[in-house]
Amino acid sequence: MGFQLILLLGIGVFGGIQADSDCNESSENIARKGVATQSSLMASGVPKFAIDGNQNGNYHEYSCTHTSHDNRPWWQLDLQESKKIAAVVVANRIDCCSTRLTGAEIRVGNSPDLNNPLCGKITDVSQGSVFKLCCGGMEGRYVTVVIPDRTEYLTLCEVEVYPAMENGNENSCL
Ligand SMILES: *[C@@H]1O[C@H](CO)[C@@H](O)[C@H](O)[C@H]1NC(C)=O
Repeated sequence: MGFQLILLLGIGVFGGIQADSDCNESSENIARKGVATQSSLMASGVPKFAIDGNQNGNYHEYSCTHTSHDNRPWWQLDLQESKKIAAVVVANRIDCCSTRLTGAEIRVGNSPDLNNPLCGKITDVSQGSVFKLCCGGMEGRYVTVVIPDRTEYLTLCEVEVYPAMENGNENSCL
């Protein structure tokens, strides 16, 4: 019963974008403690706007990142230490231009480059504005979002990172 309730709440929070919304993740978004960088900066779209705790998808309200029109634009989060990652949530821009995120790869690993192992890919942006990808406990200090195969703008309105639960009982100390 309790488990089912939590599952339903999770689906509500993440908008039910993906049918399998349970990645066995713990509840703390550790992205907010990280340091964000990106391939370039356009206008007010600073990299830290993707970890400001606000999924607001309207670029003009100062909560989304924006690169220039780069070849392989990227955004990268340095968590400062390697973590086992269960889930990454990515919020797309909604006031326009949502297709720019098509094909974005989410990579997790210990190299500060674009070649870490793949957690997942955002293939169909028409499925919603918030995407949750299960990383299955991949280990890494860096979480990277990259558009690998074209020249594009990269805008992210939030990136949340949830670590794997330890021993399947994250709340045992509460
Ligand atoms: C979540 O944990 C259960 C039980 O250990 C496992 O069967 C399932 O595959 C896990 N799901 C993911 C997405 O890791």
